[in-house]
Amino acid sequence: MVEDRPINTSAPVSTPTEAPEKSATVLKITGGHSLSGEVRISGAKNSALAIMAGTLLCSDECRLTNIPDLADIKRMSDVIRALGVGITASPQAIDFDTRHLSTSEAPYELVSKLRASFFIIGPLLARMGEAQVPLPGGCAIGARPVDLHVRGLRAMGAEVMIEHGVVHATVRGSRRKLQGAKIYLDYPSVGATETLMMAATLAEGQTIIENAAQEPEVVDLANFCRSMGATIMGDGSNKIIIQGCDRLHSTDYPIIPDRIEAGTFLVAGAITQSAFSIFPVVPDHLLPVIAKLEETGTKVIAESPDRLRLQPQGLRATDIETLPYPGFPTDMQAQFMALLTLCEGSSVVTETVFENRMHHVAELSRMGAAIKLKGNNAIINGVPFLSGAPVMATDLRASAALVLAGLAAEGTTIMHGIHHMDRGYDDLEGKFKALGAKIERLTTVEAE
Ligand code: UD1
Repeated sequence: MVEDRPINTSAPVSTPTEAPEKSATVLKITGGHSLSGEVRISGAKNSALAIMAGTLLCSDECRLTNIPDLADIKRMSDVIRALGVGITASPQAIDFDTRHLSTSEAPYELVSKLRASFFIIGPLLARMGEAQVPLPGGCAIGARPVDLHVRGLRAMGAEVMIEHGVVHATVRGSRRKLQGAKIYLDYPSVGATETLMMAATLAEGQTIIENAAQEPEVVDLANFCRSMGATIMGDGSNKIIIQGCDRLHSTDYPIIPDRIEAGTFLVAGAITQSAFSIFPVVPDHLLPVIAKLEETGTKVIAESPDRLRLQPQGLRATDIETLPYPGFPTDMQAQFMALLTLCEGSSVVTETVFENRMHHVAELSRMGAAIKLKGNNAIINGVPFLSGAPVMATDLRASAALVLAGLAAEGTTIMHGIHHMDRGYDDLEGKFKALGAKIERLTTVEAE
């Protein structure tokens, strides 16, 4: 169970005569403890979000299993429910009754809380012949435009206008069906590939997506669509071919394990020099992370086809550059940087996917890391130890990086901005606690 009791951190406890109280939940991590045992990896957040959007393609009911328990999943459920879909959630599964959609208009208040909810535009347009979805806006890691989504939908015959911050997409003609098209993506965007692949499953004729994203989550979405009767070939390569059909049927589909959560735990083992196992995983999805971990001195042994065990043997510097899959994932950059702060020698981290994904540098530096930032290159000189400190998580993966740094640091780290972590990690502190970490969620009371 998560502890949730007031503590006094840097802020004083207010009395009735003082200014009104404001409470904040923080994560308290006491570093320096070795971890052992095993961790169960949850379903993949990014697969689940895309596949939840994909349920809108289904003219029957469908069921998804192995969905992680996350704030982002609840937000996506709210967006889909607002379109008239009946949703029943239990710990084992989420059931979607997508037989009738009542509106093609997604509400701004809900879409603005979750960028990935923009991905509903493809299935909504394919199913209803129209969609109005607010632009998702930027986020802490970059501007994140949706031009590739929009251009692809236009190539498939949709009229798309952006007015007052809302994307209005319409298909004309008596059948209001998108037309198959040949689409070249300027960049292998995960979201654009997913949006267009979903849209193409119900289009007339064949769609070819060139320079498509090859991420495992794209393959998972393709598998889900195939389980409803869609014809898709080439997913996992840079050329995806989709043959459109009239309707997709009911399915019961399990989400793949989360390779980023798995990678986060692998780095946790390396940074704390601990030996433990993680399962279930798809080791192939983790190849770039495992290759880089081995360069730093941590061996990763396959105990069985879906179980990996860490064998740390020291901490050596290495360089990483984030790239689309199968390159090193941008979603592991912050966590890996936390590890490199303690690796002997000098490392360079280059972020090429997002323009503004280095906010964790300042926070790691507060813990004693020696990092020089030049644009999207971070030069890290390994230090012998980190010191616990109050830190602020600025985005989801930055929050994980700070937790890992806190687990390895001397003393106590208090992490603020915990809502970022709750967006995308299913019970991270519970899982670390079970491995023997000293970590707890606390409510601080601050004077305003
Ligand atoms: C997905 C993941 C995210 C991950 C990212 C890259 C989900 C819910 N999120 O995000 O965790 O970090 O892939 O692996 O699956 N771009 C454009 N125009 C577009 C679309 C994207 O310029 O129309 C740019 C983005 O600004 C970014 C790059 O392409 O610089 C990659 O973005 P993309 O692959 O689309 O990421 P997401 O699908 O948003």
